[in-house]
Parts: sequence; structure tokens; C-alpha cells
Amino acid sequence: MPDHPYMPKLARIVEVKQEVEGARAIKTFRVQFVDDGFTHQCGQCAMLSVLGKGESMISISSSSLEKEYLQFSIMRVGRVTTAIHEMQEGDLLGVRGPYGNQFPIEKWKGKNLIFIGGGIGLAPIWSVLQTARMQQKNYGDLSLFYGSRTSSDMVYKEELQKLKQEMTVQLSIDVEEPGWDDYVGFVPVNILDKKPSPKNAIAITCGPPIMIKFVIKNLEALGFKDDQIFTTVENKMKCGIGKCGRCNIGLHYVCKDGPVYSWAELKNLPQEY
Ligand SMILES: Cc1cc2nc3c(=O)[nH]c(=O)nc-3n(C[C@H](O)[C@H](O)[C@H](O)COP(=O)(O)OP(=O)(O)OC[C@H]3O[C@@H](n4cnc5c(N)ncnc54)[C@H](O)[C@@H]3O)c2cc1C
Ligand code: FES
Repeated sequence: MPDHPYMPKLARIVEVKQEVEGARAIKTFRVQFVDDGFTHQCGQCAMLSVLGKGESMISISSSSLEKEYLQFSIMRVGRVTTAIHEMQEGDLLGVRGPYGNQFPIEKWKGKNLIFIGGGIGLAPIWSVLQTARMQQKNYGDLSLFYGSRTSSDMVYKEELQKLKQEMTVQLSIDVEEPGWDDYVGFVPVNILDKKPSPKNAIAITCGPPIMIKFVIKNLEALGFKDDQIFTTVENKMKCGIGKCGRCNIGLHYVCKDGPVYSWAELKNLPQEY
């Protein structure tokens, strides 16, 4: 059958990890293509489908250098994501993509990279973080600021503890908890507290819109310029290929022109972030 742009490729789930329990549970899935698949760049997404349920756009959270599997971290919010959460190792998922632009990591060689995530928003930037780690000699210092409402809402808990041995990792939760030794307070406040230097640095942020708004404001207060700040936008999407007009910001189709934007680009688009 000829390739159709809406035709998903089949991928088998090879690993499922429960990251967060509860009403807004998060699971991380690793999948392998059954036949030929695709490679991706950091920041790109894929449309995941479950037969009879529908499709959802999800960021690819594995490194672009990882060729064995694709990784997706998914919060259960509605019909499709609930159906994916019910799937087990060995089940087949539809995957079409990769979609969107990418973080310009080639241009960032030699620079210090500061990753700033909130909640499930760590997933879209995890791919860049892992790629930079795997090519550490190409970059300066790597650091991560990551926060969630409570410690149990954090994704990648074990990986974060290991990462602490390699790079600066500033973890935060919104309110005090017994046994919590890291920062208590919102991510943007932690940024102002720790004052990462804008010198030769790029800040990459993703999280709830309110977090992104204040992270950018505080980075600006620390002297970061608009072209030193990058984020990724999660407008609702249907087709993923620039056909349906569901995702647009003015004349921009986020599914094609985004989802990765520098603050210099994003602040000039019509919609407010
Ligand atoms: C570029 C991009 C990357 C994304 N990456 C991830 C990811 O890595 N992990 C992840 O868990 N989710 C991600 N999302 C969000 C994900 O696509 C939606 O949560 C998912 O489509 C919801 O589908 P559903 O059928 O389960 O829920 P629905 O039944 O469609 O919706 C349930 C609830 O979620 C809201 N909702 C649906 N889609 C979105 C959206 N895009 N943004 C905000 N609210 C929404 C609805 O308004 C409704 O309140 C991404 C979205 C985009 C556009
Ligand atoms: S999702 Fe259809 S045009 Fe972007």
C-alpha cells in the first residue's frame, strides 16, 4: 500500500513504567517499530493512536541518538491517553510522525545549557537533555531545574537521582513535605534564588503556561536575552501536518513551524503566552 500521511506505523510497547499515580497519572512507554520506523530530532512529536479511540500528539522524550526505541511520557487526561495507559508490554500502538521542528542543538555547541521543567513538561526537554549528556564534550555546563506540586508528582525520579551525580540538578516542590531536602517553592522563584548566569548560556523551558510565563520573566530579570530562551508549545492538534488549521497561532501552524520557539520568535506571534 502506498504511504499515506495519516497512516500510522505499528510499534510494539516494550516497556511501561508508572511515573506518577492518581487522577493525573503519568506513565512512560518505550516502543519499537514492528517494521521500518523513523528517526527523530530533539523537540519533535509523534501522533499516537489506539484503534477505536483516536489519536494524541505526544513529545518524543528519548534522545535523537537512541536508535533502539522511542520513548513517550504520557499523562492520563482523556479518552486516548486513558486507552494508552491501559496498554501493556507487547501491545501495539499506532505511531505517525515525526512532526514539528527541533531544538537547534547544533548551534548550541560550546554553550552552557540550563533546562527548566515543571511537571510533565520535563518530557519534551528530556530528549535534548539526554542528547546533550551523551555528547557532553560538545557543550559547557549542563544544569536542570525541575519542580512539581509534590515529590510524588515528579517524573523520572530514579533518573533524576542518578543525574545528580553528573550535573547540577535543582529539584523543587510547591509545599513542604517531611523528608524533602531540596528546594520548597515554585520553579521560577528557585531560578531567582539560584541565579543561573546568562553568560554563554541557553535556557530551555517547558511546563504549565503560568510557570513558563514567570520563568521567562525571571530569566529576563537575570539578564537572559530573548534569543537565549527556548520553549515548546502544546497547542491542540488534530492532523499534525499543517492541513486542519487546529493548531495555529496567527499564520503559524504550530505542528509544522513549531512546537519549538525561541522567546524572540514567540513573543512576536499574535497569541499571548
Ligand atoms: C506538541 C504537543 C506535545 C505534547 N506532548 C505531550 C506529552 O509528552 N505528554 C503528554 O502527556 N501530553 C502531551 N501533549 C498533550 C496531549 O496531546 C493531550 O493531553 C492529549 O491529546 C489528550 O488526549 P485525550 O484524548 O486523552 O484527552 P481529551 O479527551 O482530548 O481531553 C481531555 C482533557 O485534556 C484537554 N486537552 C486535550 N489536549 C490538550 C492539549 N494539547 N493541551 C492542553 N489540554 C489538552 C482537553 O481540553 C480536556 O480537558 C502534547 C500536546 C501537543 C500539542
Ligand atoms: S494540527 Fe492540523 S494544521 Fe496543525
